[in-house]
This record gives sequence, C-alpha cells and structure tokens, in this order.
Amino acid sequence: MAKQGIIHSEKAISGIRKAAQAAAFVREQLPQLVMPGMSTKHIDDFAARLIAETGGKSAFLGYHGYPGQICISVNEEVVHGIGCVTKFVNEGDIVSIDVGVNLGGYIGDNAKTFIVGNPNSASKRVHELLRVTEEATVIGCQAAYANKHISDVSRAIEKCAISAKLGVVREYVGHGCGAALHEPPEVPNYTTGFKGAKLRPGMVLAVEPMFNLGTEKVYTEPDGWTVKTKDGKWSAHFEHMVLITENEPEILTWLKM
Ligand code: MF3
Ligand code: CO
Repeated sequence: MAKQGIIHSEKAISGIRKAAQAAAFVREQLPQLVMPGMSTKHIDDFAARLIAETGGKSAFLGYHGYPGQICISVNEEVVHGIGCVTKFVNEGDIVSIDVGVNLGGYIGDNAKTFIVGNPNSASKRVHELLRVTEEATVIGCQAAYANKHISDVSRAIEKCAISAKLGVVREYVGHGCGAALHEPPEVPNYTTGFKGAKLRPGMVLAVEPMFNLGTEKVYTEPDGWTVKTKDGKWSAHFEHMVLITENEPEILTWLKM
C-alpha cells in the first residue's frame, strides 16, 4: 500500500494557509532585493529579515542540521544550496530560492527560480526552462483533485518536461506538508508505475518539480547539501503547496496581496 496522506483539520488548514502566505510573501519579495554582484549569504540575510517580518521563523534552519535560513541554488545547482560569503550571483545567472516558514507551528514551503538582473541577459532556452518548470508546478497542483491519485499529479508534471525535452530530477520529490515540513506521501515528478496515495479533501501537497537543461543525473557536493547536475547544465526549481478540497484544488502559496 502507498503511504497515505494526512487529512488536516479545519483549524490546521487555516494555520497552514497563513504559513503558506508567509512563505509566498518571502518568495515574491526576495528576488526584488537580489542584485548582480551580491553574495548568496547576503541573499540569505535578506531572507532572514523578510521571514521575521511575517512573524514566523525559518522551517529549514536546523532541519537535519541545515545551516541556512533558506536554500539558494545558482545555475547548475539544483536544490539545497547554502548562502555563502564567497559565492556571488552575476547578471544572467538563475537563482532558485526555496523558502520554508514556520508560523504558529504550521509550515509554508515554496520555491521559485529567477534571472538575476536584466532578463534579456539570459538565453531563450533558459527562459523556456523557467517557464516550463513553473507551468509544470501549477499544472501538477491543478491535477490534485479528490479521488485522483499521486500518479495523476506526477504524470501531469512529467508531461511538461517531456514535451520541452527537459531532464526530470528523480532523487528529490515533492511531499505532504503542513503540520511538519515533510509529511507523507511522496510526490514524484515522474511516473513510477504505481498509483500512489489516493487524494482526499484536507490533504496538502508540496509540488516541486526540478527540471534540467541536460541530464537528469545529479550529485551532492562535499558540503553534504548542495545538489548539482552531473553535466553542469542549468536547473530550475519551483514549488507550490496545494490543498485538496471537495471541488477545485486550492494553491495555498499564490500570494493573496
Ligand atoms: N523545501 C525543501 C524541501 O521541501 C528543502 C528543505 S531542505 C532543508 O525538501 F534542509 F533545508 F530544510
Ligand atoms: Co518542499
């Protein structure tokens, strides 16, 4: 049997909604502060200030010993990059920020990838990588109807990558989220041949495709965290949380204001 998801109470759902909005606030504000030449530690410091503004705290700091406020992954870095005083972002680089906020004991988790500086400094193919990865995230969320299965979400995401000829990272997957950062079930970004857990109203999924311009293969740096593509080609990562309801799925990390 596939691991079932957690059905959250009405009270928990209203807390998760607020935490998700806090995480979305940081995700949308932070890119506006990032300038060419800035260190990734500087970006992490900005994130700390924005997270504090929400009244919450980082859901990542200290998680399995993670040392940063958020994850900051540049170009060929896929996920889990750590802010560093000697690593700088340049015009035309792509930066993935992954933001987890604990607000009142509930968790918001979301991510996006953006171009540093002038958008025209990035190639057409890089723009396509970002567009398709974001579309896959939203389309995956929109497939999360009650009585469907995890595989329906996975298939919707995978289709986007296949039609754009992008590599789908397999070692890392989406997850249930809300009362804890990582809850069952897993949400792969590719089909596995299993239907996976059945979706039910009250479940919350973090849908987070990682798509690569080249190979799907990745490795972890000696720092024990930073995940990179094996071929050095660039990678994008987006993440939204979606609530399964009796009707349409509700994307909790759309920023409301
Ligand atoms: N948002 C990511 C995830 O969902 C990253 C968390 S890793 C951490 O898995 F260690 F930084 F928390
Ligand atoms: Co996540």
